[in-house]
Amino acid sequence: MEDTLKPSIHRPIRSFVLRQGRLTQAQKRALEVHSPVFELPPSGPWQSPWPEDRPLFLEIGFGNGEHLAAFAAAHPDWGCIGAEVHAPGVGALLLRLQAQALDNVRVVHGDVTPWLQTLPGKLFSLVVIQFPDPWPKKKHRKRRLFQESFLTQLERVLVPGAELQLATDWEDYAWQMLEVLQKNPHWVNLATPGPFAAKPPNRIPTRFERRGQALGHGVYDLRFAYTPQ
Ligand SMILES: C[S@@+](CC[C@H](N)C(=O)[O-])C[C@H]1O[C@@H](n2cnc3c(N)ncnc32)[C@H](O)[C@@H]1O
Repeated sequence: MEDTLKPSIHRPIRSFVLRQGRLTQAQKRALEVHSPVFELPPSGPWQSPWPEDRPLFLEIGFGNGEHLAAFAAAHPDWGCIGAEVHAPGVGALLLRLQAQALDNVRVVHGDVTPWLQTLPGKLFSLVVIQFPDPWPKKKHRKRRLFQESFLTQLERVLVPGAELQLATDWEDYAWQMLEVLQKNPHWVNLATPGPFAAKPPNRIPTRFERRGQALGHGVYDLRFAYTPQ
């Protein structure tokens, strides 16, 4: 077949690789039993699981859910939503939710990007992204989750005044995050003196922070407020 006749295969650039990672029996069972209760439909439509006046927190790429579960336990009056593509991580979070009897958490098991597009505007008061996949090779940088186009998508679902917390152990990614936020007039850096922030009180050590530390990396925190005109 000539090239021109070949169907064009459109593959979106993904910020993740779907690793096969082994599910433990407990995670597998948690996915079977608890997903129907805790999972949000990945393609909408949005229906708040909680009373409309609750502040909403979104954690993107929650890994095994250490921070998400700890935040939810410490903030029972918040609605907490986590997005993660990795099934063992989702299973691990579901086990935590059950063990801690947390009813203020819901899960998006899949890519957060298309899901964001199914949402109405002005939902979240806090968004956290901790240790996103660093994609350190130059040729892979376009796969980094946090970039200008992603921030624009995020803005639509934030309430004015919402806070965005980012953390990474990759210095050049930290500077990239900073540049994207600083050149956008809708964002104010909450760090004093800055440009990087002190560790937010809610941030606890996660698996990927520990991994960065083992590699001798530093940790860079960013805290910005969304202040549309
Ligand atoms: C390096 S890990 C960090 C996990 C956790 N935040 C921590 O600190 O341990 C990044 C996570 O983001 C998830 N991820 C990457 N892109 C994503 C996307 N578009 N939607 C949902 N999760 C994503 C990956 O599956 C991975 O588990």
